[in-house]
Amino acid sequence: MQPPLDLSLSAAGPLTGTCSLPGDKSLSHRAALFAALAEGESVIDRFLVSGVTHAMLNALRALGTEWHLDGDRLTVQGRGLRGFTPPVAPLDCGNSATTIRLLAGALAAAGTPCTLDGSAGLRRRPMDRITAPLLRMGVPVTTSGGCAPLTLAARAATLPLTAIEETLPVASAQVKSCLILAALAAGGVSTLREPGPSRDHTERMLAAMGAEIRAEGLTVTVAPLRRPLAPLRMTLPGDISSAAFLLVAAALVPGSEICVCDVGVNPTRTGIIDVLREMGARITVENPRVAAGEPVGDIRLAAAPLKAVCVGGDTVVRMIDEFPVFAVAACFASGVTEVRDAEELRYKETDRISVLCGELKALGVRVTERRDGFTIEGGTLAGGACDARGDHRLAMSLALAGLSAPSPVTVHHAEILNESFPDFAGQLKGLGATVR
Ligand code: S3P
Repeated sequence: MQPPLDLSLSAAGPLTGTCSLPGDKSLSHRAALFAALAEGESVIDRFLVSGVTHAMLNALRALGTEWHLDGDRLTVQGRGLRGFTPPVAPLDCGNSATTIRLLAGALAAAGTPCTLDGSAGLRRRPMDRITAPLLRMGVPVTTSGGCAPLTLAARAATLPLTAIEETLPVASAQVKSCLILAALAAGGVSTLREPGPSRDHTERMLAAMGAEIRAEGLTVTVAPLRRPLAPLRMTLPGDISSAAFLLVAAALVPGSEICVCDVGVNPTRTGIIDVLREMGARITVENPRVAAGEPVGDIRLAAAPLKAVCVGGDTVVRMIDEFPVFAVAACFASGVTEVRDAEELRYKETDRISVLCGELKALGVRVTERRDGFTIEGGTLAGGACDARGDHRLAMSLALAGLSAPSPVTVHHAEILNESFPDFAGQLKGLGATVR
């Protein structure tokens, strides 16, 4: 248990400076897991050390994988696609949906019997989106009413799974990645089609490790693994989802100009850059380069008056984790902001439509909840107290409102931010914000 934290931000002078962030959360999860599935030693630099990635690391250790963290350098001794040993107890995936869904795919491929469980919050999130297709592949998996705990029974790992041709009902990288991992142990080529462009880190990383994966538009084909995955040697880029908090912070305070260096700018993740630009922020991506198979750049933002926008369609998928922070930016934009096509937000760490609207209302915002989104009337946020409601991104987003609100904003139970961005307050202070 983390000690409780009340986080309070109030209006201050412009934010200025250059910073760089810990590694991307999605890439950290994948690097740790895929390194365990490779044969040989992997070395991963700038690994994100946080609550959710520790859930993955602890689960891997319980499955017999040896790893070592030295600062943010992770070394993993991979034992191959079928190298896990059955754990003696259920694996605790904590609050991490990426851990439970990706591990389920890896365990399906390995044939390792195992129960995957997690926090009360994780137990509320839908798992049938992975178990239904896994069952079609022949994976002996059961759930508790479509949710965790998930139990995978033992399966002869020498028997291939059934290759699938699947159209995914939601654009979800966690579901896609789970099925890609299982497909590595199938008897033929599997085809997955998505309704939207979810993040493609799994495809890029596994292909770089030697897996036969092809992505064309929204279709991914995966061949069974014919030779062991090669170990990883990589430095991860900074997390654009964490950078988004700093970028919005700077966008909210007139006169601010910041640069966040070495950030992953994979086009499946950059919806927030497009939207902040459309809102009027002066934002550029400098020094574009490719590192470890991922596009990377330095993101510079200079504050300018923000105006309301309408967000829907594929952009929703490309900024799926950024709606809490985007909503706070919208509170300080002129006009009425509208979000639609975003019902998937209801299945995140919290029901991010209902909980976000409720907490913004507590700060005085005129906000209307819709089935698949919300509208926000800019200029109505007064300040006051609200609650993180067990959602790390909500904690950080709501706190930022204090930078521009007429009175300070205090977020109760903000300790949950350690799940993904333990240095949030430190980074903001480094740019000149007053954080208490
Ligand atoms: C993630 C995918 C997204 C995202 C989550 C991380 C990943 O979830 O919200 O924070 O690493 O694959 P969905 O795949 O469920 O949309």
